[in-house]
Amino acid sequence: MNSVFHLVYVSTARQLLDAEALESLLIQARERNERLAITGMLIYGAGNFIQALEGPHEAVLDVYASIQRDQRHHHIITLVEFDDDERDFPGWWMAYAHEPHPEKIKGCINPCLSGCYPHPLNVG
Ligand SMILES: Cc1cc2nc3c(=O)[nH]c(=O)nc-3n(C[C@H](O)[C@H](O)[C@H](O)COP(=O)(O)O)c2cc1C
Repeated sequence: MNSVFHLVYVSTARQLLDAEALESLLIQARERNERLAITGMLIYGAGNFIQALEGPHEAVLDVYASIQRDQRHHHIITLVEFDDDERDFPGWWMAYAHEPHPEKIKGCINPCLSGCYPHPLNVG
């Protein structure tokens, strides 16, 4: 019955984040996500983020509003929004991966910077 709302965005860090800064971001994110039944994944590399959020519609939009206000990043672009029956990341309150070469991940390069608009889910 399409009860899971999915949202994918890309953004660019205002300053490169070290391991400590990323860890505190993830602790904060996972705590709130678990409370709101939001799952997903975050990939960070070379100053760019790509994140997939999924869960109850209102909860995902609330968290995304917070994320959009967050001064740690900018050039935030929503790539995909859709409803589905299933989660892609069940049990992952926010899976995390560091990819030092994000150009390998189609869709991870922020289109603001690259001037193109790749398909966000074409991760290969
Ligand atoms: C790249 C990035 C991803 C984030 N992902 C999440 C997330 O998945 N869940 C979350 O609650 N906060 C996430 N945050 C933190 C939020 O932006 C925000 O600081 C936090 O939810 C607290 O919201 P508030 O300031 O409205 O109280 C993320 C921040 C950044 C920069």
